[in-house]
Amino acid sequence: MKIEEVKSTAKTQRVSAHTHIKGLGLDENGAAIQAAAGLVGQEMAREAAGIVVDMIKSKKMAGRAVLLAGPPGTGKTAIALAIAQELGNKVPFCPMVGSEVYSSEIKKTEVLMENFRRAIGLRIKETKEVYEGEVTELTPIETENPMGGYGKTVSHVVIGLKTAKGTKQLKLDPSIYESLQKEKVETGDVIYIEANSGAVKRQGRSDNFATEFDLEAEEYVPLPKGDVHKKKEVIQDVTLHDLDVANAKPQGGQDIMSMMGQLMKPKKTEITDKLRKEINKVVNKYIDQGIAELVPGVLFIDEVHMLDIETFTYLHRALESAIAPIVIFATNRGRCVIRGTEDIISPHGIPLDLLDRLLIIRTLPYFRSEIEQIVKLRATTEGLQIEDEALSALGELGTKTTLRYVVQLLTPAALTAKVNERTIIKKEDVEEVGSLFLDAKSSAKILTQNKDKFMK
Ligand SMILES: Nc1ncnc2c1ncn2[C@@H]1O[C@H](COP(=O)(O)OP(=O)(O)O)[C@@H](O)[C@H]1O
Ligand SMILES: [Mg+2]
Repeated sequence: MKIEEVKSTAKTQRVSAHTHIKGLGLDENGAAIQAAAGLVGQEMAREAAGIVVDMIKSKKMAGRAVLLAGPPGTGKTAIALAIAQELGNKVPFCPMVGSEVYSSEIKKTEVLMENFRRAIGLRIKETKEVYEGEVTELTPIETENPMGGYGKTVSHVVIGLKTAKGTKQLKLDPSIYESLQKEKVETGDVIYIEANSGAVKRQGRSDNFATEFDLEAEEYVPLPKGDVHKKKEVIQDVTLHDLDVANAKPQGGQDIMSMMGQLMKPKKTEITDKLRKEINKVVNKYIDQGIAELVPGVLFIDEVHMLDIETFTYLHRALESAIAPIVIFATNRGRCVIRGTEDIISPHGIPLDLLDRLLIIRTLPYFRSEIEQIVKLRATTEGLQIEDEALSALGELGTKTTLRYVVQLLTPAALTAKVNERTIIKKEDVEEVGSLFLDAKSSAKILTQNKDKFMK
């Protein structure tokens, strides 16, 4: 199994509406602070979510599942993302929407399996022979291109590494120069190079340079102790899906057509059940040898009522298996028909036997004052100014529609303000966009009232 080259395949999240959320905002006793870490109100659900986080951290949650249930716009997705923030970036968190399983190309269960494996982490500890230190010099040595022509090529690269104990100059292969460039290594950075594979890892900027005014995102690390050339415990966090991808072979055989296919779809790889079994075997061996540790993460399935009976059955079985993530579901449905059945009605559209093993967290509609607080938070996050009168108009509108609707009105309201050459959103902007864009409830009402005028 290849581990050296494993790249993270984490899905990027569509979180633009939730960028203000930084955590659950609980105090040290696990009680919700009215407004903290970007969250407002919804105290009971946040406290329950805090307990789930504790259970995950103390490894008491594997194979269990949680359901966030409540009306639209009551913060279910927001709380799930807050859970992810609380868990930190070492615990995998894989978000998906129920409808993602319906694809014309991939089997439903395959989509689920892939996401399952994205949500299971493996922490691999290896002792490796490395060269580590602060980069004091980085010089590519060029020669005339041996193939002729005018270009020059890098024949090797000279790098100086410094630790608290000494310095060493290394002459490296040009392939390592490429990895150095990929990691954007500069003099003054602390890096290590694995002796066997030549893999380069940039750890951060040496804190000797901490006073330079630089990007604030920079991470400063101390000058390494010990020798430049040494044995070092290297920790790598990957997901099972990362391993699947790194070990999958490109599809197709040797003939021209399949080669063409590969050229057109260079990233297309095939992950088979057989491959997954192989990987599980190696993973289990690593775990037995104490080299690796399993880190069950979180699979978040939003709009879970979109799943059908077949995928529910599959999920239920997968939850029983030895290696399973924690699954968090969210839904805004009450009692409804389970998809894929004729007429089996169940709470939240989830089969009873699965429902039976869920911890259910309820989210409740917000008070007007809370809606105003949240809208204000969003406005600040989006860099918008809003008058108190406008805020209160949105608050009032929010109690009649949903929080999500009024949060969404912010951007068009800011635009009308701009059209009227203002930088601050006024009540009239809110009224204007409120009459231009319908919320779901009013739209549905108009549809029923004017049934005969629409096409079927
Ligand atoms: N308690 C809260 N505190 C702060 N922002 C919230 C809260 N609840 C919801 N939001 C924000 O309101 C919007 C709608 O909430 P969302 O989580 O999408 O609702 P749901 O998933 O229940 O339909 C999002 O922008 C979300 O970030
Ligand atoms: Mg949601």
